[in-house]
Amino acid sequence: MKKLIVANWKMNPATVAQAIRLARAEDAPGVVIAPPFPFLGAVRKVLKKSHLGAQDAFWIPKGAYTGKVSAHQLKHLRVMYVIIGHSERRALGDTDEIVNKKVKAAFKEGLKVVLCVGEPRTVRRQGIGAAKRFVAAQLKKGLTGTKNLKLKTKNLIVAYEPVWAIGSGTADKPAEAAAMARFVKDFLKTKNYKLTTLVLYGGSVTSRNAAAFLGQEEIDGALVGGASLSSQQLRKIIFAARSIQ
Ligand code: PGA
Repeated sequence: MKKLIVANWKMNPATVAQAIRLARAEDAPGVVIAPPFPFLGAVRKVLKKSHLGAQDAFWIPKGAYTGKVSAHQLKHLRVMYVIIGHSERRALGDTDEIVNKKVKAAFKEGLKVVLCVGEPRTVRRQGIGAAKRFVAAQLKKGLTGTKNLKLKTKNLIVAYEPVWAIGSGTADKPAEAAAMARFVKDFLKTKNYKLTTLVLYGGSVTSRNAAAFLGQEEIDGALVGGASLSSQQLRKIIFAARSIQ
């Protein structure tokens, strides 16, 4: 099974010239590069092997929505993947209902959705069972009403990202992340969804720990934030992904 690496640059780098340089250095098969919106066009032009991703999408196709970028517009920019429900967006106000609207709009446009779920530290402290219940609720709300969109299995990817592990330097334990990935897969296989879904792990993935996560059978790839801003680091992570498959 090929492992997928999604590079989430977040609000980096500062200039389009730096974005182009980084994109060239990270361009490789099995990789999705998700730059900030203003750099999508320039990055697309230099990618030969990677796919283009976006970090968010608004659900209304076009109109008087100052500052928003729609799934419809992204589709026309030849974006293939879109990250939805990232914990940093949820912290800035994206509720499960908003996440659900974005997911549905992205599916309607035929985009591949990387739906981010994950529990905060207070929940994980209560045990893995509490984390599973939290993630199940996020999946349920995020995917409400998607069945009648003829949701194609291959258009949904789930990123399990425990909130406390993102940008903290403290990654989850690979075995526990794998147990959560198994849980997500089993949850989406039930009769309500009947989906076979790829599950990525995200949260402080680096070139040092990538092999331990990617080596888990249940984990189909990684969503990489901070480490994706260094092409040297990302290339090591890509190498780890290749050595495993
Ligand atoms: P991180 O971010 O790798 O910097 O922890 C992951 C993410 O936010 O997707």
